Amino acid sequence: MQISENISLKKYNTFGIEVIAGHFAVFTNESELSELLEFKKPTNTHQQPVLILGGGSNILFTKNVDGLVLKNEIKGIEKINEDEEHVYVKAGAGENWHELVLYCLQNNWAGFENLSLIPGNTGASPMQNIGAYGVEIKDVFYQLEAFHLQEKKIVNFGLKDCEFGYRESVFKAKLKGQFVITSVTYRLNKTPQFNTNYGAINQELEAMGVKELSIQAISQAVINIRRSKLPNPAEIGNAGSFFKNPEIDAVNFEKLNEIHPSIVGYPVAKGMVKLAAGWLIEQCGWKGYRKGDAGCHSRQALVLVNYGHAAGNEIYNLSGEIIQSVQDKFGVLLEREVNII
Ligand code: FAD
Ligand code: EPU
Repeated sequence: MQISENISLKKYNTFGIEVIAGHFAVFTNESELSELLEFKKPTNTHQQPVLILGGGSNILFTKNVDGLVLKNEIKGIEKINEDEEHVYVKAGAGENWHELVLYCLQNNWAGFENLSLIPGNTGASPMQNIGAYGVEIKDVFYQLEAFHLQEKKIVNFGLKDCEFGYRESVFKAKLKGQFVITSVTYRLNKTPQFNTNYGAINQELEAMGVKELSIQAISQAVINIRRSKLPNPAEIGNAGSFFKNPEIDAVNFEKLNEIHPSIVGYPVAKGMVKLAAGWLIEQCGWKGYRKGDAGCHSRQALVLVNYGHAAGNEIYNLSGEIIQSVQDKFGVLLEREVNII
């Protein structure tokens, strides 16, 4: 275990933003984590602020990090239990998400297929209750273990404890900054319950010529759709959707719909409608916009991109301009989904 000083975080965030971490270390188990948390600068008797990093695919760095950045590399995938209907798979927080998905697909364990190809690590999957194509982590979640940074002990969280919502969990809200997730256990199905309600999936399955539905075919359809519109961070820096899709009440939606008949919205619980933020942003003329190396993706307006050397603040300022213009045109407030550091 080594603590390095003044390390560039460019390769540790998918936006590819160049910032420096005062101190940086990797941990592969809980006792290493516990030991690292004791680290203090020689000139300082206080514990440093700590930032936990997974795959860095949902973070925008806007400044150097004057603390201790700890990269979670706890590995291991294990089937820990099964019953007639389910298998329980426990993954170390540092396992790559899509590799876990592929491993479960190979074993014919169903539940992850719609969540294929989401970047990042398993440890972050409950942080914002990752979701795609009609499925969220909460649908396959069983429990997780997390290390309490102050009390230095492991705490178990079940489904209810996590308070999952749309791109939300207790770890992003009232317990923010208090825990390091060390492992997550998922409950997968032995018999698949196919979820192809999300329009584009059926269309893609048809284009693929799939005759018999399988979790492998759904996974491939999702991968194809994602590749067709989302930029690959290895080629263009980004963190996926930069904003959440905003929810407004049905009455307001009707008013907007009268003025903008092509507005895209989906009814959600309690008389609310979820708007496609990508549509709102595109209508404001941002799709394909570029200023310096900061831009709005040309195939998916909800994704902000770094074409090479953008500073985090340039991306952040662009996101502010987008929020303002959507507010001016539609009276709808966009909320950033990406974690701003
Ligand atoms: P990081 O970016 O490293 O961290 C995210 C946050 O969680 C940070 O605040 C960090 O401090 C904290 N954190 C990370 N690990 C831990 C831990 N073990 N314990 C405590 N805190 C921790 N997301 C979706 O939901 N759906 C999508 O379809 C989707 N598509 C994407 C497509 C692209 C091209 C990209 C680049 C991103 C996409 N994302 C999507 C966002 C991202 O992939 C997810 O949010 C992912 O779960 C982030 O994982 P990570 O390990 O990279 O987290
Ligand atoms: N749209 C436009 N213009 C655009 C982009 C989208 O008009 O430039 C409209 C289209 O009508 C399209 C609709 O918005 O049909 C929805 O677009 P898409 O299916 O691409 O999904 P999204 O709502 O933009 C959400 C998630 C994604 C997730 C996909 C698929 C959020 C914030 N984003 O995007 O998650 O992969 O659905 O389920 O909920 C992420 O969180 O990082 C992420 C990529």
